[in-house]
Amino acid sequence: MPINLSPNTQALCEAIERGASNPDIDGVDVTVLTPFEAGVEDVLAADGVILSTTENLGYMSGAMKDFFDRSYYGVLEEKQAMPYGLLVRAGLDGTGTIRAINSIATQGLRWKPICDPVWCKGEWEENFLVRAEELGTLMAAGLEAGVF
Ligand SMILES: Cc1cc2nc3c(=O)[nH]c(=O)nc-3n(C[C@H](O)[C@H](O)[C@H](O)COP(=O)(O)O)c2cc1C
Repeated sequence: MPINLSPNTQALCEAIERGASNPDIDGVDVTVLTPFEAGVEDVLAADGVILSTTENLGYMSGAMKDFFDRSYYGVLEEKQAMPYGLLVRAGLDGTGTIRAINSIATQGLRWKPICDPVWCKGEWEENFLVRAEELGTLMAAGLEAGVF
């Protein structure tokens, strides 16, 4: 199913990818998928996941909810302790989305957060892109170093 990202949301995704693809980091393959494209096989093949979503109506995007609905039980046993990062773009708030995803990821799936969520709240700031890129680099560098 096609996904319609706002230009800012698309830029955040590209910044995460750019950070994860940092040329100083070797041996980490980066795959970028929309939540509608991603599924059980993709998660099983991954050593780490960065989740990025807008907050819509006080919760994660419908696409991200669909991803969890389809993938949860298929990855539950095999991917415990997998490192994950989270970025939330929220025009107004973001707390409901962060609470929900961290609950599903840590209490449900038993994944391990690599850092606090990157919380891109309110009016657009160019610094959001810096933080998104840093999140990508942190994941890739941590996987390269074997610290997660
Ligand atoms: C239908 C709809 C519902 C939204 N609900 C929320 C919300 O509950 N909380 C919030 O912080 N932002 C909400 N927003 C704002 C979005 O988070 C924001 O538009 C999105 O992150 C894209 O950001 P951008 O304007 O920088 O592209 C909503 C936007 C839309 C279109």
